[in-house]
Amino acid sequence: MDLYCVMGNPINHSRSPWIHARFAELTGQTLHYGRRLIPLNGFAAEVRTFFSEGGQGCNITVPFKFEAAALADRHSQRAKLATAANMLTLQDGKLLADNTDGAGLVKDIECNAGVQLQGRHVLLIGAGGAAAGVLGPLLLASPVSVTVANRTLAKASALVARHAALAAQQGTELRAQDLQSLTENFDVLINATTSSLLGSAIPVAASTLKPGALAYDMMYGSAAQGFMNWAQEHGAQARDGLGMLVEQAAEAFMIWRGVRPPTQQVLVELRLLMA
Ligand code: ATR
Repeated sequence: MDLYCVMGNPINHSRSPWIHARFAELTGQTLHYGRRLIPLNGFAAEVRTFFSEGGQGCNITVPFKFEAAALADRHSQRAKLATAANMLTLQDGKLLADNTDGAGLVKDIECNAGVQLQGRHVLLIGAGGAAAGVLGPLLLASPVSVTVANRTLAKASALVARHAALAAQQGTELRAQDLQSLTENFDVLINATTSSLLGSAIPVAASTLKPGALAYDMMYGSAAQGFMNWAQEHGAQARDGLGMLVEQAAEAFMIWRGVRPPTQQVLVELRLLMA
């Protein structure tokens, strides 16, 4: 049977095995998708073991996304820009790194939340791995502007510099700012910081929300609740990252299996399962 898995630390909470099993059921594919807890200093060895056991592809989650990209022999354009990978696939004996997080986010915003990014002003909050994984695909959706705001300005500036050529090609204004100096408001806010996970304060002021803005937290479940409540209290459309989780998985499934799974149905089922 074709073997896939998700690797991370911790990994018990991961919904990826359930999502991929459901995709396989709904599309009539035969595969096994497991989960592997990877020791913090053992990523490369575990990847080699998995592929030597006949593994076809694996998803990568926290904290190994940068290490996964560094380990690979080949990179998709989006994985190269992100310098982080959420999937590794064995292709002609070589490890190919890809990153479907950004495509998943854009798909969830545009298709599931119904908000087109073209023509919008976007605020991406954070400049760590999560933000790096989505900036390229966000730019490809042609918003008018993307502001990357981070507590540590230097990290936002580095991320913006790496994406400057893509932004210019798309005709999108791309700039870096520190969180404290944000004075404008935005159509779409995306929280890509770990503030929700850490239970910290909302990283931006409510004045950054245009009336009716989409406020999106890349976290889901109880971790995202504080951000969602804050957004709703200030008149925004609040959304958590569960749809992104399903859509990034669907993009990986499509690459591996050549079939697009019914994501909206799986998202509804997953929400019910988690309620
Ligand atoms: P991930 O891979 O999940 O993105 P990360 O690479 O550690 O995790 O990045 C965490 C991000 O959350 C960073 O942008 C971090 O800001 P700094 O670069 O200044 O550290 C941001 N972050 C974490 N806690 C935060 C908080 N309480 N307020 C604002 N930003 C926070």
